[in-house]
Amino acid sequence: MPVSKNKPREIFKISHLSKIYRTGEVEVRAMNDVSLDMIEGEMTVLLGPSGSGKSTFLNIVGGLDQASSGTVFFKDMELTSFNERQLTRYRRDHVGFVFQFYNLIPSLTAWENVALVTEVSKNPMKAGDALAMVGLENRMTHFPAQLSGGEQQRVAIARAIAKRPEVLLCDEPTGALDSKTGIIVLDALTKVNEELGTTTAIITHNAGIQKIAHRVISFLDGKLSNCHENKSRIKPAEVVW
Ligand SMILES: Nc1ncnc2c1ncn2[C@@H]1O[C@H](COP(=O)(O)OP(=O)(O)O)[C@@H](O)[C@H]1O
Ligand SMILES: [Mg+2]
Repeated sequence: MPVSKNKPREIFKISHLSKIYRTGEVEVRAMNDVSLDMIEGEMTVLLGPSGSGKSTFLNIVGGLDQASSGTVFFKDMELTSFNERQLTRYRRDHVGFVFQFYNLIPSLTAWENVALVTEVSKNPMKAGDALAMVGLENRMTHFPAQLSGGEQQRVAIARAIAKRPEVLLCDEPTGALDSKTGIIVLDALTKVNEELGTTTAIITHNAGIQKIAHRVISFLDGKLSNCHENKSRIKPAEVVW
């Protein structure tokens, strides 16, 4: 029987996830027994102080790092059983990443930075369409050095979405931006979530951002401290920074 379009579906099912980093004799328990689901098509904000395990969580869910124990399912794929090669394929086929620093190639234009990805993807958007979606239709031939921080971050978002990933994972995407440009970047992420239906997770330690999301997950000392659904959402422009 086909799955009803109206029924929320878990895209990630995460159970008892833990991560211990070992450096020589020293052990750091970065993530401790975290269980939660993420719903397809939703935007989730991940909150928590520095060192609370947010990046560790996102990196495991995105296949950039491996858990010490527990399970992560992406749809019917158990990521926690994957080897490096399988994780690489998972990332390539399903996940877009946006980081605090934009990591654009300085010698390539905005369009070329995005086209680099579309050339190796199965069903990509046109680079120009991805840039237009984040409001950069007039900046395509600019080099990163000719763009503001917020514009560079929007190029990075266009690059991340151009392969039409099912999941977009953003680690402190506004961390290096002032409130005005940060809001424009959040607007771009909200638009992608709404128009492409991309399941989106945004890490921030700015609690003011949380109300733009469908759901909020808070971490403290490597543990889940709160998880709730927003009854009403606000637009990025209404965020009190
Ligand atoms: N590669 C690593 N090696 C050792 N410890 C790490 C590593 N990555 C993160 N940690 C530690 O794990 C804890 C959680 O880190 P992290 O997930 O980066 O937190 P957050 O993103 O919330 O700031 C911190 O104590 C951090 O120092
Ligand atoms: Mg972090």
